[in-house]
Amino acid sequence: MTRTVYVNGEYLPETEAKVSIFDRGFLMADAVYEVTSVLDGKLIDFEGHAVRLKRSLDELQMAEPCTKDELLEIHRKLVELNQIDEGLVYLQVSRGSDGDRDFVFPSAETKPTLVLFTQNKPGLADSPAAQKGAKIISIEDIRWGRRDIKTVQLLYPSMGKMMAKAAGCDDAWMIEDGHVTEGTSNNAYFVKNGKIVTRPLSNEILHGITRKAVLRMAAEAQMEVEERLFTIDEAKEADEAFTTSASAFVMPVVEIDGVALGDGTPGPIAKRLREIYLDESRKAAI
Ligand code: PDD
Repeated sequence: MTRTVYVNGEYLPETEAKVSIFDRGFLMADAVYEVTSVLDGKLIDFEGHAVRLKRSLDELQMAEPCTKDELLEIHRKLVELNQIDEGLVYLQVSRGSDGDRDFVFPSAETKPTLVLFTQNKPGLADSPAAQKGAKIISIEDIRWGRRDIKTVQLLYPSMGKMMAKAAGCDDAWMIEDGHVTEGTSNNAYFVKNGKIVTRPLSNEILHGITRKAVLRMAAEAQMEVEERLFTIDEAKEADEAFTTSASAFVMPVVEIDGVALGDGTPGPIAKRLREIYLDESRKAAI
């Protein structure tokens, strides 16, 4: 099926959608993005993603392409036109182009480029990958220093996934100055003696929308949470571990650098948090 996508005010078949070759998203990775999940044909935590998008744009002095209400309408229309029951909506805003390549930002009047498309993912919530749990490797974190801004500079995270694949694993956690920062496309956690440990927010990691929701739900369920720096060795000695992201919700981790966690199957806290997250998110979806 040919998707209908959105480009700068128009809904078009994906084969007809076009962006300039001079667009700074293409030439300079001068663009930010959001990924919002869809369950039961409804958007999960749209508000959180809209707020973070605004923050990313502000941090890069990039103009807002439209209002939050307009964004919501575009998301909903794409979900409807493409008949998405379970899947994702990808949104990207770039600084646009004034028709040439230049390191200097174009004038403030330059229109940003706004692109959205859907990805149909039947079985996203009831995923076999989540039932199995993920095997991860650790790699050095060599990304830039503003990982709190959700830019499209995803070459190193892509390379990280390829390194994991080459090692027969599913994903990679990144390490900087001896401490785990986050996964290639998710936030990282381990559980020891019932306590959930995750790195605190800073410029070193993306402020995950799923992270925020899951930590709130964990506290509501009387689970103990500690936000602090941690090493990969602590995670390897943990009872269980997991990641969070809009595209995989709560994903149990069953192996780190070849070391099985617990009995090597998804842990009870990760499974419980996944259930709670899916349940509460479905109820709050719009
Ligand atoms: N990735 N950390 C990184 C580096 C990420 O790329 C992501 C999300 C997260 C989790 O954030 P959230 O809970 O808001 O999805 C953390 C998206 C899903 C992606 O690139 O596809």
